[in-house]
Amino acid sequence: MFYGKRLFLRPYEKGDAKIVLAYRNDPEIMKFLIPGIPYPLSVLEEERWIEDQARETERKSFAIILKETGEYIGGCGFNEINWKARVATIGIFLGQPFWNKGLGTEAFQILIDFAFTELNMNKLKLFVFSFNKRAMRSYEKNGFKVEGVLRQEIFRDGQYHDEIVMGLLVSEWKARRLVEAPRSV
Ligand SMILES: CC(C)(COP(=O)(O)OP(=O)(O)OC[C@H]1O[C@@H](n2cnc3c(N)ncnc32)[C@H](O)[C@@H]1OP(=O)(O)O)[C@@H](O)C(=O)NCCC(=O)NCCS
Repeated sequence: MFYGKRLFLRPYEKGDAKIVLAYRNDPEIMKFLIPGIPYPLSVLEEERWIEDQARETERKSFAIILKETGEYIGGCGFNEINWKARVATIGIFLGQPFWNKGLGTEAFQILIDFAFTELNMNKLKLFVFSFNKRAMRSYEKNGFKVEGVLRQEIFRDGQYHDEIVMGLLVSEWKARRLVEAPRSV
């Protein structure tokens, strides 16, 4: 379990499948999350994915839980880990009721701290669709910078959109912590 102020991250449990799907199959979320065809998933597919999580080493996802209520609000994790270059690709989603409350930024902060302090990553990177301004702002709040643009990579709502690559180096994360530390005392 990894703890933040209002949230903690825990491993997925089989019993999470239904609530995960309630959020994951929401078209408003799939629009931002799925680069290919945004098919909804079945409970069986979701349960299999959760079972596979226990065996994964290159991909690891965590359930995001509200401390106050114990409620599942979304998921985040490592989609790919390159142990040689020490680069991890990360991702996140929250159910719509929890957007715009600072919770996504906090959940990512917990994941980022874990990646740099326990996994010894040198860099974190992520992909975000150019129309997902909320996500980009949230990533910027955690120190991510735009590294590149994959032009017309996404076809959504009948149009092509760019996909943005953002990254955060461990050196940048450390520098931010030095600046932020006096404020949190
Ligand atoms: C992306 C996501 C994880 C962000 O988490 P969140 O808790 O909503 O984000 P936060 O509240 O921490 O921060 C959002 C910021 O975006 C801003 N914002 C919201 N809508 C915006 C818009 N249309 N344009 C620009 N900024 C916007 C908010 O004001 C806030 O910035 P501020 O704190 O400076 O005011 C969450 O919204 C989500 O799960 N969205 C759907 C799935 C998704 O997009 N996943 C990411 C795929 S790359």
